[in-house]
Amino acid sequence: MSDLLIETLTCEYREHCLGTDVRRPRFSWITQSARRGVIQSAYRIQLTAGHDFEAPLWDTGQVISSNSVHIEYAGPELQPRTAYQFRVQVWDNNGIESDWSAPGQLETALYSSNAWQAKWITPDTSRIEADAHPAFLLRREFGLRSSSPVVSARVYSTAAGLYELYINGSKVSADLLTPGWTSYHHRQQYQTYDVTYLLHQDANAIGVMLGDGWYRGGLGFEGRNYMYGENRAVLIQLHIRHEDGTESVVISDADWRCCLAPILYSNIYHGETYDARLEQSGWMNPAFDDTQWVEAEQLDLSYDHLVAQENVPTRVTEVVKPIQYLLTPAGDHVLDMGQNMVGRIRLQVKAPAGTQIELRHAEVLDRDGNIYFGNLRPARQTVTYITKGEGTEAYAPYFTFQGFRYVKVEGFPGSEQGLPLDAFQGEVIHSDMASTGDFACSDERINQLQSNIRWGQRGNFVDVPTDCPQRDERLGWTGDAQVFIGTALFNYHGGPFFTKWLRDVKAEQHLDGGIPFVVPDIIGGASSAAWGDAAVICPWTIYQFYGDLRLLAEQYDSMKRWVDYIRVQGDNEFLWNTGFHFGDWLGLDAKENSYKGATPEDLIATAFYAHSTRLVRDTASILGNEEDARQYGELLENIVQSYRDEYMTPTGRVGVPTQTAHVLTLMFDLAEPLLQQRVAADLNDLIIQNDYHLTTGFVGTPYLCFALSGNGYHSTAVRLLMQDSYPGWLYSVSKGATTIWEHWDSIKEDGSFWSDDMNSFNHYSYGAVGEWMIRNIAGLDMVAPGFREVRIEPLFGANLLTHASAWHQTPYGKLESGWHVRGKEMEVSVSLPVNTTGRIILHGAKLDSLQEGGKAVAGREGITSAKETSSGVELIAGSGSYTFIYEYGDLFAESYTEKTRLNELLMDPHAREVVERHAPQLLTGATHNIVRTPSFREIRENGMFQMSPDILDAILEELSANPSSKENVEM
Ligand code: BGC
Repeated sequence: MSDLLIETLTCEYREHCLGTDVRRPRFSWITQSARRGVIQSAYRIQLTAGHDFEAPLWDTGQVISSNSVHIEYAGPELQPRTAYQFRVQVWDNNGIESDWSAPGQLETALYSSNAWQAKWITPDTSRIEADAHPAFLLRREFGLRSSSPVVSARVYSTAAGLYELYINGSKVSADLLTPGWTSYHHRQQYQTYDVTYLLHQDANAIGVMLGDGWYRGGLGFEGRNYMYGENRAVLIQLHIRHEDGTESVVISDADWRCCLAPILYSNIYHGETYDARLEQSGWMNPAFDDTQWVEAEQLDLSYDHLVAQENVPTRVTEVVKPIQYLLTPAGDHVLDMGQNMVGRIRLQVKAPAGTQIELRHAEVLDRDGNIYFGNLRPARQTVTYITKGEGTEAYAPYFTFQGFRYVKVEGFPGSEQGLPLDAFQGEVIHSDMASTGDFACSDERINQLQSNIRWGQRGNFVDVPTDCPQRDERLGWTGDAQVFIGTALFNYHGGPFFTKWLRDVKAEQHLDGGIPFVVPDIIGGASSAAWGDAAVICPWTIYQFYGDLRLLAEQYDSMKRWVDYIRVQGDNEFLWNTGFHFGDWLGLDAKENSYKGATPEDLIATAFYAHSTRLVRDTASILGNEEDARQYGELLENIVQSYRDEYMTPTGRVGVPTQTAHVLTLMFDLAEPLLQQRVAADLNDLIIQNDYHLTTGFVGTPYLCFALSGNGYHSTAVRLLMQDSYPGWLYSVSKGATTIWEHWDSIKEDGSFWSDDMNSFNHYSYGAVGEWMIRNIAGLDMVAPGFREVRIEPLFGANLLTHASAWHQTPYGKLESGWHVRGKEMEVSVSLPVNTTGRIILHGAKLDSLQEGGKAVAGREGITSAKETSSGVELIAGSGSYTFIYEYGDLFAESYTEKTRLNELLMDPHAREVVERHAPQLLTGATHNIVRTPSFREIRENGMFQMSPDILDAILEELSANPSSKENVEM
């Protein structure tokens, strides 16, 4: 057997692609090999209808190419509702041939709105009013037309509302909250289910429970009903194929029978009330007497906006058991789940009929230990179950979800003696994305922060990226999504999730190019800087992570329209200084009674205008649109120049002394290159002056540590991360947080809360620091889209951490980077997947003493180049796992501190004079009286760092021996 093994085969991101409307699906595979330096040299794909590859429908033959991600189908047109199999074979750079992979599955869905024979139905509106109950039951029985065995049965189904589908008493899948939430006016998903195994040869029954959900239940700040329509409806089409080739179809139509469901109340924010006494046993089975039920009525709803499921489904992904029962000072019986989670409680109870059990969900306890509902605003988050009194009953709500750690339970039998913990289970619900990465280090508090970041994502990725999962909001805020997307994609696979959401962003883009504040848009309003930029930043980020060129091309027009929209605002086409903006939302330098930080909105808006324009320019050139690339490039130059004129002095002072203004100037490359370091030094000063505390809000925080680490102030960034007093990432951890908070001090030092009106304990935005932890502390980063080329460059933990590691499941396989300091010895371990190459930068290493796998690096398998640079050793390596060990030199770890120090010292005339003598090249920007030290980004990109460690040592030695200021003495 070949050692070249095709391990994972996917089609459109899915391992089993059941039900897609994509006409030219794309295939990807991950290859494994025990050897190092393996690159694919050729591939061959075959696709067949059915199981037989003897006469495939499509055979690429051997294609000389190293591409293994998103290879587009290019065979004869695929047919709707058809199952295909595909397989892949590859060759590598050593001429080794793999075996054929195990076959992958692809099945097309309906392809066109004309394929719907089913009707949209709802209960006869003259017999059951649309408002009668928040959920209905609909059913029909059917026999099989042929006695020939069923070979396949597929349901295509969706609802105006939320639905659960049953055949012969069983739920057809584990999916929840179907059909998911999209911009229903424009696009609505339908699902495809394989129900072959559920059908009986004789009598069959199909049943649906149909609730309000996002479609017509109260949503938004005013809790308005009927966002998308007044009537709930379902659309169901079941295709049954028999062995003899015949096919029959069962559809939703006026022949269905309907009645009220036992759900008396149901709402996304407020919870659900279920009266089990109203259950009709066997309603989803055949031979049920439905003569008392009413007919169905056809509704004239559209088919044109239906699309096959794009996102991964929402499911229960974990079950959490309560960790303790609490009797609070107020006398409430409370369950503590031990984790702020999103989902529902499944309870088990034995009690007389009519016993009413109420669960009220909340995120925190107040300082007295009482359960706190204040921050939920009007959201009731209350689930009520009324028992039917027949043995042990189990229930979990159907069409709602709650954000909570604590649950107040009322009416549970025997609760005077406490609550039996085993009667309750927390079901964690979110889009079922694969976990694709993690970060760990020597400080448990940071590990808790990382866990909080991941939980924040899980709770807020319930089919759309939301701001929070508990209060009366839970909306697809564009700003929050763009802030967090980089971190999100490291931790979980977000390809399908964001593909679906971005198509909604595009669908809801206004005619003038403006972007709604939230998508799906149910609140109106549009086009704040840093919020609307999600339309550009998100597709770009997806492209970076997955090399998804198709989505980028699909969104390109929308990206351009956003930038074009900005351009025509106000009377200066190169500044954005008009209109409404959220500003540096929740920045701590905000004026009293304002949520907007001190950084002027127009500065932020113009900075993001430049950023989005740059991304549009780069996208244009990637897509081969040279003319656009030229035009947006020119526009970018003008914006940048206007930014400098408006917000910066000629000597590099940022006109507004806020951290966020400096961060944006650095991150979006807005300062003149020669002045960049001055801006970075000023930012560093601002942080030191603030005793290593940040003041940034939604806009500045995600970039803050990147701006520092990328410009020679990594140790300041690490100190910020490790800040455990308010405001800092570890402050909430020190207060016991298990998710990321909306405010740095959602719980204050004295245990009191930030005001009730806006205080979420599960808001992922500030968790965006996770991306920096992975890229800079662990040093795991992409160079070419999809991680085909990577850079491993740990910047380490500034002597505050002794080890750190991260992994990420890239489209090519698992990428890992980790380091461990033991005394003077550094160990760095790296794993690169097959078909990728990595630049490994080992700061503080020297070539002659660097070892890999216990041997000198020269000539080690997989390492194709090794060179010593002023800051360490730089290697180029192919796939495989490597362990490097070296005694780090003086420059290691401290180098960042020293560099930071050096920058501070150079502000001092004496220090400048010393540096001038030792390394005049560092001061080449002196015309503006500006210290010219290259940024670390420049060092990395251009190898500009001219100063040898010896010179740096000499400078530092002389300065510490002969200090001219207090600062120097401290060295
Ligand atoms: C949300 C935010 C959102 C903001 C807009 C808040 O209510 O929770 O996260 O971005 O409004 O300013």
